Parts: sequence; structure tokens; C-alpha cells
Amino acid sequence: MGRLLVVLIFVGFVLPSSSTDSTLTTFLVEANQQLAGIYDQVVLAQLQNELRGSNDIVALLEMEIADEKLLNYLKSLMAHLAKFKRLKLGDATQKRQLERIPRLGYNALDGMELAQVYALASNMSDSYRNVLLCAYKQPGNCTLRLIPEVQAIVQESRDLDEIEYYWYEWRKQTGLATRDQFVAFMELYKKTAQLNGYPRAQDYWFRSLEMGGAQTMSLLDRLMAGLRPLFLQFHAHVRGSLRKMHGERLVPRGRPYPQHLAEVFIGNAFRRVRAEWYVDLPSPLAGLANITQDLHRRGLSTTQRVFWNVAEYFRGLGLPLLESSLWTNAQVVAADDDDSCWHKVWRYYTLPITNFTYCPLNDEERFLNMFEAQSDLYYNRAASGQPTLLRDEPFPSFGDAIGKCFSLAATSPRYLQKLGLLQEGKWLELPARLNRLYVHGLRVVFLLPVFYVLDRYRVEVLSGHIRADDNEAYWRLTEHYTGAAAPRKRSNEQFDVPAKLLMEVDDQYASNILSTVLQFQLLKHYCTTTLQFGKDNPRKALDLCDLSDQRQIGASLQRAMALGSSVPYSDVLQELVGEPEINIDGLLAYFKPLHDWLVQQNQLQNLDVGWA
Ligand SMILES: *[C@@H]1O[C@H](CO)[C@@H](O)[C@H](O)[C@H]1NC(C)=O
Ligand SMILES: *[C@@H]1O[C@H](CO)[C@@H](O)[C@H](O)[C@H]1NC(C)=O
Ligand SMILES: *[C@@H]1O[C@H](CO)[C@@H](O)[C@H](O)[C@H]1NC(C)=O
Ligand SMILES: *[C@@H]1O[C@H](CO)[C@@H](O)[C@H](O)[C@H]1NC(C)=O
Repeated sequence: MGRLLVVLIFVGFVLPSSSTDSTLTTFLVEANQQLAGIYDQVVLAQLQNELRGSNDIVALLEMEIADEKLLNYLKSLMAHLAKFKRLKLGDATQKRQLERIPRLGYNALDGMELAQVYALASNMSDSYRNVLLCAYKQPGNCTLRLIPEVQAIVQESRDLDEIEYYWYEWRKQTGLATRDQFVAFMELYKKTAQLNGYPRAQDYWFRSLEMGGAQTMSLLDRLMAGLRPLFLQFHAHVRGSLRKMHGERLVPRGRPYPQHLAEVFIGNAFRRVRAEWYVDLPSPLAGLANITQDLHRRGLSTTQRVFWNVAEYFRGLGLPLLESSLWTNAQVVAADDDDSCWHKVWRYYTLPITNFTYCPLNDEERFLNMFEAQSDLYYNRAASGQPTLLRDEPFPSFGDAIGKCFSLAATSPRYLQKLGLLQEGKWLELPARLNRLYVHGLRVVFLLPVFYVLDRYRVEVLSGHIRADDNEAYWRLTEHYTGAAAPRKRSNEQFDVPAKLLMEVDDQYASNILSTVLQFQLLKHYCTTTLQFGKDNPRKALDLCDLSDQRQIGASLQRAMALGSSVPYSDVLQELVGEPEINIDGLLAYFKPLHDWLVQQNQLQNLDVGWA
């Protein structure tokens, strides 16, 4: 200890004073320490919330106290921050730490506007959550929530008028009802951007990506253009299925398909329905594997067993084996429903412990989720050498892409066969693989354009190209990018934009798009370097690639993860995949067998591709 101190003092003494400013150094040491302590309080409160259920008053109160403390601390930093930036003090890492100090966000607004922006945001998400629709079949029964009741009715219904009725009501109650609030909110958002030092609000929208609005949109445009050929073929095929089900009048040739019917159809893929539910599964006879059933049959019948099997998997990649106390201290979560029941890792900034909480369900989704949770754990540990301000992932959901890459690799029939989960040889054959790619493709390929439109619309509003409530502009974007149209023409009398909120009112979707695309890019990279993927080699297709026991992966993965956010994401990517930008090639390679099949089928069945 004494020795270290001497060295530090010595180094500080000999370095020219321009490159280290002692007040800045002290400021950052202090900020990193204080923030770490406050972040830990936030994490502990969130963990309590997870363990006690989402309505636990004590946990909610603790979260509020920690948030308040964080805000007050950040406010106390702002004057110093401005000074250090103005004087351009510090070396590259110090400047980066200053950049990564969280901004005040809405708290930069004055008291009245601040109260208003919170009221608007919570009103809008409440309206989405609390709105009640009247039942189509019992107009006096007005107790139906959007989720789960209306969603469930629409998914099961075979009555087109009923489906259409709910589509209209949903939009009337969530979209039109909040039009004025949406407009007011966007105005306050622009003001917030200004006050946080972003003259162009679209740049503020994407600030967590550390890219400006124009740069982000041009990256997203490139990804959409790359996806387009696959999307068009898939769209044509789904439109053909919808036409078979509903007839030429409702699903005409050469036109976008009706959104309300397409959503029900594509929604099936998210519900993991049985093979018989799909109208045009590529190979009806081959069916879909049911991993849940096999988990129970093959001795992976408890979460503990799954935990250790997956831990073995990561050790096989050359990562350190997890300590047994992680499992012995693990606790069960108190989830309200299956959709909020997941395995999670809780990382602390100062406390020298890691907590693991798990969902006791044992099905395919939880099995795959284990790969993601443990991947998070390695990420947290690898990045823990960075100062607090540089420890997070380079943009939101970046770490998800890594976890999803491994859970994707775990769905390879070669790996599942190795585990004894799939026994029949047919799962390795093209017919069954096409079925799997088809269902997975419905989930991925159709969602990306929807996310794109959500961000694109907001960016057009924030940059002043369109009015905040330009419903016609919204439908032009929706038709062009998603190939879906409203059941009947919509005008500016209506407002459908807020009806499609999937997450927060004020958060960008670009990082979800980037994270999704990146997971395939990463898979392609690892499968290429382990010689399991070969372009145009059907025996080395990406969906067959099994990464288990590829020991060389661990070291380079650790190096990339250890960077945290000490450098921009393109530098992390360079380390991770050997290229500085996110691209769509991995996703296209993964779905290549499906794409080829779609092209062939569309020709055979004389299906029209594209729309006008
Ligand atoms: C929030 O919703 C309530 C009830 O719908 C309404 O009275 C109130 O004006 C709304 N608040 C804002 C800020 O729009
Ligand atoms: C109202 O409709 C819902 C969904 O169809 C149903 O579950 C509920 O029992 C109905 N309530 C009454 C009072 O009929
Ligand atoms: C898979 O098997 C589980 C357990 O037997 C069952 O509950 C579930 O419905 C099956 N899923 C499908 C899509 O067949
Ligand atoms: C968190 O982990 C520590 C030790 O690693 C353990 O003592 C504690 O019980 C765990 N807490 C929770 C809530 O899981």
C-alpha cells in the first residue's frame, strides 16, 4: 500500500501539469465513488422489488429514495462539469468520463414544465395500460383491458368484423384519446433537448448511442435496405397465406396487407403455438421441436440443472467456471406472470458480491434465457475493472446482443442433439430447419421495420419535417416499411401513433434494432472463426453452428467486454467482431435457407412480391 502511494505521487509529480489536472482527477475519483455507492442502492432496491413482487411498498420507496439521491448528486456535479468541459481539461479517458456523466434530462426543465412532462408521460402510458374496451359481443361489458383480454380475444377470433372492431377501438382509445398529450409532450421533449445542450432534438433522441440523429438514421437506413430483399419475399409469402385464409377481396394482389389480419398471423410466432396453427409452415410433416418436453424427459428438469449445464457451456468457451455459491445463494423471483419471470444477475459497483435470481419455470424460453443471464454475468465481471462511469455497455442492449448470440447458438439442432434434447435425426435435415427458421423469422424479420417506423416518425417530428400529429405521414411510413395498411384509409382526423407504444413513451428503438442485428453478426463471426460457417456451403449453415467447446472464443470475448464503455461502440465492435460497424450480413446468412425457399415458393405459387 505504502509503495503504491509513493509511486502514484511520483508519477503525478513528473507528468507535465497540462495533462493531469489535480482538481479534475480528484473530481472524477470522487464522482466514480459516490455514483458507485448510489447505484448500489438503486440495484439493491430493484432486487428487493424483484424478490417481493412489483407492488411492494418498501421496495418502491427505496427505489424512489435512491433515485432522488442520484438526481441531487448529479445536480451538484453540473457546475463543475461545465467548467471542466469549458477549459477542455483532462486526457482522453478523463474527457470520456466527463462525457458519460448522466445528464439531468427532464430535470433541466423548470418546475411547472417538469411536473407537466411527467404527468404527460405517465398519462400516456397509463392510458395504454388502463384503457378498458367494451366487448364486441356484449356491448354493455366494458371491462376489457388491451392486454391480456383484447389481445387474447383477437388472437383466438375467426370473426373478421370482431378483429376489425378491436383494431379500431384500440386506436381510438389509445391514439386519438392522447393526441393532444402526444403533441404537448413532443414540444417539451424538444425543450428538454435544448436545455441538455442538444440544439437538434433528434440528436438528443439518440444520445445513448453516442451518435447524432442523421448518423443513426443513415445506419438504420442501410440496415433496412439490406433487410429489404428478404423482407419482401417473406411479406409476399405471408400475404399469400392471408389471402388463402381471408380471400382476394380483403387481401388484394400488389397492395400492402391489412395490418389487423397480419398482426394476428405474425403474433402466433410470439405465442409459440403448435405447428398445426401455421397455415403455410414450410414442411408440415416435419413439425416443430418442443424443447420444453425434452428438457423434462432428459434430466434437465430443474433450474439448478439448467444453471450448471449452461455454466459448463461457458466454461467450454474458455471462460472461468462460475463459483458454486452463486447457485447456493440464488433466490426465486416473485413474478406476476410468465412474461416477467426471468433469470437475472445483479451486479454491484462497490459491494464485492453478485446475486443471481431465477424463475422457477422450466421451459424453452427459460432455458435459453439462462444463456443470456450468465452472459450478462461475465460481461459485468469483465467490465468491473473500469471506473463506474465507464463500466456500462457502450449502448443500451449491447450486452443483450452477446447473450442472445449464445442463446441463438444454443438453439442449433447440433447442440441440442449433443445435450440429448433432440434425438431424431430429422431435426438436422432441411425440412425441419426451414420450419424453425420460418417461425423465428416471423419474430425477427417483421419486427425490425416496425421498430424503424417508430423511431423514424419521432425523428421526423423532432427535426421539424412533419407535425407531431401527422397521421397520414405515419401511415405512409408504415405502408412503405412494413407493407401493412389500415383496414380502411386513415386520415388526420385520426391519430394512430401512440397506439403502437411497446415500451416507454420517450425512448428510442434504434438500440433494439442494432442489438438484434448484432446478435447475428456476432454468431456469424464466431462460426466463421471456428470454421463452422461457410458461405454457400449447405453443410456449414449458420443455423446449424454449435459453439459449445470452442475454447478460443473466451479470450477475445473477455477483451471486448472488459472495455465497458471506455471507448465508443465501434471500437468495442472492432475488438469483438473485427469490424467497426454493425451490418446485416449475419442476419441474412442465418435466414439464407429460408430466403431461398421463399423465393422458390413465391415463384411456384405465382405470388406477387412488393406493393404499390
Ligand atoms: C391526464 O389525464 C387526466 C384524465 O384523463 C386528465 O384530466 C389530465 O388533464 C391529463 N393530464 C395531462 C397533463 O394531460
Ligand atoms: C366481459 O367479457 C370478458 C371477455 O369476454 C369476460 O371474461 C367477462 O366475464 C365478461 N364480463 C361480464 C360481466 O359478462
Ligand atoms: C410443449 O410441451 C409442453 C410440455 O409438455 C406443453 O405444455 C406445450 O404446450 C408444448 N408446446 C407446444 C408449442 O406444443
Ligand atoms: C446475495 O449474495 C450474497 C452473497 O454472495 C448472499 O449472502 C445474499 O443472501 C444474496 N442476497 C440475495 C437477496 O439473493
